[in-house]
Parts: sequence; C-alpha cells; structure tokens
Amino acid sequence: MLELRAIKKSFGRIEVLHGVDLTLRGGEIHALLGENGAGKSTLMKILCGILKPSEGTIRIDGEPREFADYDEAIGAGIGIVFQEFSLIPHMNAVENMFLAREKRGRLGLLDRRAMRARAAEVIARLGVDVPLDVPVNRLSVAQQQFVEIGKALSLDARILVLDEPTATLTPTETEHLFAVMRELRRQGVAIVFISHHLEDIFEICDRITVLRDGAFVGECAVSEIDNDRLVEMMVGRRIEASFPPKPARAPNAAVMIAAEAIRLRRGGPVSRFELRSGEILGFAGLVGSGRTETVLAMLGAHPAAECRLRIEGREARLRGPDEALERGIGLLPESRKEQGLITSFSILQNISLNNYGKYRRNHWFIDRRRELAATQGAMEQVRVKAQGPHARVDTLSGGNQQKVVIARWLNHQMKVLIFDEPTRGIDVGAKAEIYALMRDFAAEGRAIIMISSELPEVVGMSDRVCVFRSGGIVATVEGEDVNAERIMTFATTGRVDHVA
Ligand SMILES: Nc1ncnc2c1ncn2[C@@H]1O[C@H](COP(=O)(O)OP(=O)(O)OP(=O)(O)O)[C@@H](O)[C@H]1O
Ligand SMILES: [Mg+2]
Repeated sequence: MLELRAIKKSFGRIEVLHGVDLTLRGGEIHALLGENGAGKSTLMKILCGILKPSEGTIRIDGEPREFADYDEAIGAGIGIVFQEFSLIPHMNAVENMFLAREKRGRLGLLDRRAMRARAAEVIARLGVDVPLDVPVNRLSVAQQQFVEIGKALSLDARILVLDEPTATLTPTETEHLFAVMRELRRQGVAIVFISHHLEDIFEICDRITVLRDGAFVGECAVSEIDNDRLVEMMVGRRIEASFPPKPARAPNAAVMIAAEAIRLRRGGPVSRFELRSGEILGFAGLVGSGRTETVLAMLGAHPAAECRLRIEGREARLRGPDEALERGIGLLPESRKEQGLITSFSILQNISLNNYGKYRRNHWFIDRRRELAATQGAMEQVRVKAQGPHARVDTLSGGNQQKVVIARWLNHQMKVLIFDEPTRGIDVGAKAEIYALMRDFAAEGRAIIMISSELPEVVGMSDRVCVFRSGGIVATVEGEDVNAERIMTFATTGRVDHVA
C-alpha cells in the first residue's frame, strides 16, 4: 500500500535521515522503532507532507506521490496523530476534530448538529468517555489523546500513523485503543505505530522497522524476534538491568514534607504522607485517582478543600509552583510542553531557567563559561541528542525535549523534586540513566516524589509507595509490600489500610 524508499532529510547542513525505507501493507500494524532522536517522527512528517524529503520516493499503491502539504496527504487517505498534541486548547472536541473542514449545510451554514453527531460516533467507536462540549484544555491528557485519535479516524484514513499514542494512556484505555486498531486492521487500514513500550509492540504489531541515528537498521516480523534482540537492534548494544539498587532505609531521616491532611474539592479520602530525606516516594494509582491533583493542591496550584502542610517541620501554605520553587521544591509536570519548557529557547537557556543564582559571579555578571560547561555536563548525563547546547528545544525529538526538562531539574539546587510521569516517551537506553540520576539525587539527602503509571517503574524505584484511589491516598506500603499485586489491590479495591 505504501513504500518509502531511500528517504533522506537534512535540516540546514545536518542530515538526520540517511536513506530510510519503510514498506506498509494493507491490514497490518507496523511498528516504527528507535531511540529518542532516531528519526521516527521526522519520517512520519515526511509521509504526511509536513516536511519535504531531501531525497527519496513515496509510493502509494505503486504510484509515486509528492505531497505539497498535510491537506494533500489527508486527501490521499493518510491520517496522523502527532506526538506533540496539536489541539487548540480553548476549543472543544468537536471543533477540534472538524477544524478547517467544517461540515456545512445547504445554505453554507455550519452544520453543528452533524459535526457533533459524527464526533460522538467516532468517540463512541473508541469506546471511551470524552465530554464533547468543554474546551479540550479542561480534559485530562488521556482524553485529549483520544480527541487526537478521533480526529484522525474521522478522516477515514487508509493509512494511519500513531506517534506514541499510548504514552499517556492507562492500561484500560490502551486496551480500548488496541481493540480499535485491531478493528481498523480488519477493515484493511495500514497502521504505523510508534511506541517506546516494547510490550505494546509484541501485543499489537505484525511487523517492525527499526531506525538508529537516522539510518535503516532492519525490518522483520514480530514473531521472528524477541525483546532482547529488538533492544539490541534499536540501541546497538545490550542494556543491563535498569533499576539502581535501593539503599537501606535510614531510620531517623528528617521529614522534609509532612502532608497532614490534603482533601480535594471533589471529595474522596484525606491524603496524609511524610516525605523523608533520602527517599523516593512513589505515588501510584490509576489515572484519575488524584495523584497529580493532590500534588498540585499541595503546591497551591489547584484548589483544595483542605491542605495542612509542614515543610521541614514548619507549617506552610504554598501559593503556586513559583513559591514552591523558592522553598526548594521543584515540579516536573505531566504535560511537559505546556508547563515544562520554553520551546523557542535553546537547551542552555531552558536548563538555566530559574537557575541563574548558581552561575552568578556578582550582582551584574553571569559566569557564561560555567553555565555552558554545566549545561554540557547535564546534557551528557541524560544523553540529550542534539546539535549542541545552543540548539532550540523545538528542533529536538520529543524524547530529547523531555530529557532537557529532567536535566534542568536535576541541576537545580532543589531539596525536593516531584516528577509526574518522568520517563514518558523516553527510550529504553536513557531510562536506565535517568533512574540512576534520580537515585543519586535522593542519596544526597534530598527527596523525590514520583508519580508514575508504570507499575514496574513504581516498584523498581520507590522506597515507599502511597497508593491513590478516587481522590486520595488509601494506603502506604513499604519494604516487601512494594510489589505490583499489593499496589494494584489497593489501587482497585481501595481497602483503607493506612501505615504512613
Ligand atoms: N526542525 C528541525 N531542525 C533541526 N533538527 C531537527 C528538526 N526536527 C528534527 N530534528 C532532528 O532530527 C532528529 C530526529 O528527530 P525525530 O523527532 O524524528 O526523532 P524520534 O525518533 O521521533 O525521537 P523520539 O522518540 O524522541 O520522539 C533529531 O536529532 C532532531 O534533533
Ligand atoms: Mg518522535
């Protein structure tokens, strides 16, 4: 159905795709794999007419095609769900889905009813619950993701590209999406699926194409390969066990934050927890169980019914992330693009943001050499792949943008870091390094709260775990009890068993 042959792409003088092939058959789900910055999104943007290839050919049903823009690609039956959301925040789901191709009635009037019905039908086909009439910025990240997918599906695409669609979804939502993908496959749609979750690949995909550093590494059937071989193809080396060892628990570690009572406006259990020096405290629970809300309430960024807090023993009331920052508490938010980075700034500027105190020579001067050296060091730590510290963040791949946010926080003089889904979109190789850095951070007597929907990550990294259900903490587990079964039991049945 589709053939990409010897595709090359340069930005300025730098070639990022060096002659890549991709062959898609009707009715298959084809995984496109590779590390952060390997060139997956770039290749897909070429397919969709958003970027022009420097060289190479695109054939659809054997016919050579060139797309002047995305609209032409849509006309040829290609739909894409971008890695970075492209929704207009203040518009609702229906308006977003029909943006620039509004349905019109006989008199040329907008046929709102028809659009709404069509949108509802598409969302229903996904088997999810998404309110259609509220601005999308009031939807959860997962719901926004489904609006994106719905938008592509409503185009009746024959070739559908999903660039990391499951990164933000819960297991149940992912299952819904997979069911939809299987149905589309049955209908003969060809799907390109990009994901850093290798379990997903083995569950849903038929064939695999692997890229490494912009080069084509190989293509094979999923049934012909196992996990280790696949990782080796992607990374070019073997990856050792990813979680650093947990230190023995220090019995008298100082309490850095004591949440004595946090109650969300929407009701639910009252959350209580203590964060001690040197530890990584996991926040587990299903998406929507109140983990992010509770953290935001604690920082004063989300209204709470009650918020009694002590920071280093003293009663405290925070009025937002900026004030938290002054107290040495940093938040790495869930939706990086909106809250974490200024994408038109360079890597260096982003890493230095709010961090100039560190490089200040005196009242007037910033020590630029030190700033540069520190940035380079930070970039190496998390393996940011970029042209250099002065590269604009919006020229980085999705995963590399995220590494920049992580590098920035790890280099702040923070006492406490709160990571919301820290490794979302990060490739297998870099994950291990980020975990090690988090452990080092804690080992210096600081502390981390880690919200994560990835159970292996919660279990592998946390010294203790607070389990959330319907709006608050229902259990805190430690030691032997930090295991998947235990955590899932509390997350789903919510038996109250408080051992803070
Ligand atoms: N507009 C641009 N200008 C310069 N370089 C760019 C631009 N867009 C992408 N690149 C570079 O092209 C390379 C491939 O990026 P791409 O986004 O395709 O990676 P990816 O495989 O999708 O990675 P990820 O898993 O992190 O999403 C990266 O090194 C990136 O920095
Ligand atoms: Mg990408």
